[in-house]
Parts: sequence; structure tokens; C-alpha cells
Amino acid sequence: MTDQTAGLGWTAGGVPVSTRFDDPYFSLEDGLAEARHVFLRGNGLPGRFRPGFRIGELGFGTGLNVLAAWRAWLDADLGGPLEVTSFEAWPLTADAMETALAAFPELAPLASELTTAWRAGRRMIETPTLRLTVIVGDARRTVGAWDGQVDAWFLDGFAPARNPELWETALMREVARHTAPGGTAATYSAAGAVRRALTEAGFSVERRAGFGRKRHMTVAHL
Ligand SMILES: C[S@@+](CC[C@H](N)C(=O)[O-])C[C@H]1O[C@@H](n2cnc3c(N)ncnc32)[C@H](O)[C@@H]1O
Repeated sequence: MTDQTAGLGWTAGGVPVSTRFDDPYFSLEDGLAEARHVFLRGNGLPGRFRPGFRIGELGFGTGLNVLAAWRAWLDADLGGPLEVTSFEAWPLTADAMETALAAFPELAPLASELTTAWRAGRRMIETPTLRLTVIVGDARRTVGAWDGQVDAWFLDGFAPARNPELWETALMREVARHTAPGGTAATYSAAGAVRRALTEAGFSVERRAGFGRKRHMTVAHL
């Protein structure tokens, strides 16, 4: 698919913005620091990493969160691959991903592996330290049809007011159904509707300090 399909623009600071949803793909302040605060620490990572650890993500976008997790996995040095399954309806082009990820030089070697594979049309990437599958399609359909389970979820749709499809209760129930016992989910959002959907899906929900200008974020335990 092309950038027209994803509907992409850029801020003056080089952050990709969805014109379809009128929202940036990650924090305008520091997307990598946000990924580490919200999605890694929110899920108790890297502390919970163990061999065979599995992550699920709603909204692959530029791949930044996945690269942040892969970097942390490499630093934890547990051996074997981190297993990641990410769900994305409007995949970006390799060029757009590369431009967005260039803002994070410390991820450069990992970003290059990702974008090289992506450019070749691969949506499953297997290296000795990462097994990534990006499932293309509307997550409201694809998560339910998937037969995997994960230990931690990165819930990273656009703002719930603009992208309510990715936060609805039925989808959060599918997220819960695909979470291993004791698993967790984290999101930058502390919106009441998101907290209610996660609670109705069976998670116990906790509010934590958010990243940057966001006062709060949400962590959920199954
Ligand atoms: C905030 S961005 C994700 C950013 C990404 N995690 C990153 O690291 O760059 C939200 C993503 O959700 C995707 N999305 C929105 N609605 C969706 C749906 N119904 N199913 C699957 N993906 C969806 C968008 O295309 C976008 O890539």
C-alpha cells in the first residue's frame, strides 16, 4: 500500500502524522522515550522478559515501539528471539518508516533490518533475536481470527476520540482472550472509555503517570 492509503503528513519536527485520523504516530516530544515509558515500563519490561517472551501490538505504524522492545530485548541478553505480533490496517511504505525512524540514531541498525525486509515486501521477519509478524487488516477482525497469545500488549491506536474502532470493548475482549494468564497491557491513553473497555474485558486497570505532557496513562493486568 502507498502513503496515500495510510494518509500521511509530517510535522516540522519530522514526526509522521496521519491525515486520515489527524493524529501523530508518536509523541512530538520524543517518540522513543515515550515508547520506553508507556509500552516497556508500563508492561514491566524489561524486568518481565524471559526466554520466549511474546508481545502483541495494536497499530504497528512506523515500527518504533517494536524496535524499542527489540533493543531492550537485546540489552537483556536472554538468548533466542523476542516474539512480536503487530496488527495494522494501513501499513506505511518502507520509505516513510525509514524517514520517521531516522530521528532515532540509536535504533539505526535495527531500523535498517526492518525497513530492508519491509521494502522487499516481507511482513514476517525472522532473525536470531526477533520473530516479528505484522498482520495486515482491520484489527477488529484480525485479532479475533488469530490463534496466538501474548504476555504483554502495546495498545497504540490513535487517540480514542479519533480512532474509536481500535479501543472498543469487543476488541478489548479479543485482546484479553489472546493474553496469557498474568499478562498485561499498556497504553498512553487514560481516557475513561478505554479504561471502561479494558475493565469490561476482564482486566484490572491502573492509572500511572503519563509521558511528557500527558498526565496519565493506563496499565492493565489480566
Ligand atoms: C499511533 S499509530 C501507531 C504507532 C506505532 N505503534 C509506532 O510505533 O509507530 C496507530 C496505528 O493504528 C493503525 N490503525 C488504526 N485503526 C486500525 C484498525 N482498525 N486496525 C488496525 N490498525 C489500525 C493506524 O494505521 C496506525 O498505524
